[in-house]
Amino acid sequence: MAHLPPVDTFDYIVFGGTGDLTMRKLLPALYHRYRDGQIPEDSRIIGTARSPLSRAEYQQRAQAALGEHVKPDALDDATVQRFLNMVYYVSLNGAEADSDWPALKALFGDASTSRIRVYYLATSPALYGQICENLSREDLITAQSRVVLEKPIGTDLASAEAINDSVGRHFPENHIFRIDHYLGKETVQNLIALRFANPVFERLWSCDAIDYVQITAAETVGVEGRGAYYDRSGALRDMIQNHLLQVLCLVAMDPPVSLEADAVRNEKLKVLRALKPISADDVAIYTSRGQYARGTIGDKTVGSYLEDLGEGVTSETETFVALKAEILTWRWGNVPFYLRSGKRMAEKCSEIVIQFKSAPWSIFSNRPEPNRLIIRIQPDEGVMLCVSTKDPTPTDSLTLRDADINVEFEKAFNIRYPDAYERLLLDVVRGDPILFIRRDEVAAAWRWIDPILQGWKERKAPLEPYAAGTWGPEGARNLLSQSGHLWHEDTKK
Ligand code: BG6
Repeated sequence: MAHLPPVDTFDYIVFGGTGDLTMRKLLPALYHRYRDGQIPEDSRIIGTARSPLSRAEYQQRAQAALGEHVKPDALDDATVQRFLNMVYYVSLNGAEADSDWPALKALFGDASTSRIRVYYLATSPALYGQICENLSREDLITAQSRVVLEKPIGTDLASAEAINDSVGRHFPENHIFRIDHYLGKETVQNLIALRFANPVFERLWSCDAIDYVQITAAETVGVEGRGAYYDRSGALRDMIQNHLLQVLCLVAMDPPVSLEADAVRNEKLKVLRALKPISADDVAIYTSRGQYARGTIGDKTVGSYLEDLGEGVTSETETFVALKAEILTWRWGNVPFYLRSGKRMAEKCSEIVIQFKSAPWSIFSNRPEPNRLIIRIQPDEGVMLCVSTKDPTPTDSLTLRDADINVEFEKAFNIRYPDAYERLLLDVVRGDPILFIRRDEVAAAWRWIDPILQGWKERKAPLEPYAAGTWGPEGARNLLSQSGHLWHEDTKK
């Protein structure tokens, strides 16, 4: 692949090295970048976890993961073998002081301390502080070390601050990379290009022309094997506090003065701080939450959330959330931003819909539909502008018909679309934090989320069931209809 910035030799040390994220995302992403020639051959990927595995056994697991998660046309034996030569394993409990730290130290050996070290924490966030403390005590944090923190950072503002404090005692803020894989998605990054390279959009990007905005991340999967984590989290913490609020920031922020990381992050922070607070008493007005019941997706009948959790389990955790957010600025006065995310929904689809205001007057017999700009994050990444055109069927009058101006990026550019982790993992090595979340952003996001969680805890908004395979509970539809707005799928009917 052309134009990939070369990186210096590095050691990537993954805590949680046998976990699902490492196997499904991290190893395949590093493999792709190795295959693309971005990673020097003498770099190392060091998995660590408690399991007593030999290096050969870990390499076998890594190989199986590549077989499962990399498309066959990108897998060739010789490249896989050379990649596996870079893979090491240390059996270590990162949260324990008396674990086998000497084995990790021995692996670093005399490697120059100028070599880049990335400590990737793909463990429970509750362990982040302890792992960093152990790294520090063992004198393993060099001037060239960085730490990557997976979400969720905490479960509320207080716990997030505690985690950030404990990591911050050992790493300076500019060496802490809080990852949000939505920021690594091409179409999310493309928002910056689309908005700030095309005056045609930016001139219309405000309450003057925009009626409302929808940001959706819908999934058809249920909680899969992650019930234990998910049930303590729920959709608001799992998807909205991080991914969707980050997307909202990129949609709503003012133009940054440059593409320097802090210039962008300062603008995002302003958006988060301008969110109108939703008090615990107001959650019934501004939020809708639901939990999937049995239903059908495609031609498959699927069980309810409670059935997925296991027999006899009860839970009030939301698997769906929709929110009406407002940004208290001149640019966005009176423009609702509807955010929604759910499991077991009708389709897998992440998209942003910008609904423009209607024409003030119509000279046509049928009124033009308001323009809509749809930015598809996944699948079928692309941008579509819905416009009204003349109905070409022969009639005596000039009537209107809807049409789409549609760009599908993969087809337009004829390239493989990289997984979000590829860019992010290598940005850490390059030390570029533009697509990572700064501590104050995490705090601002939690500050807005906490009262909503409180209101739900006090049961001030109902938890509605919704059939799997639908677009969520009735309350989500009402959230928009009370302002005369429609979810995107309802405009297609
Ligand atoms: C993760 C959530 O952060 O994002 C998962 O923890 C969710 O619950 C996933 O399934 C969705 O990511 P994507 O890239 O498939 O939209």
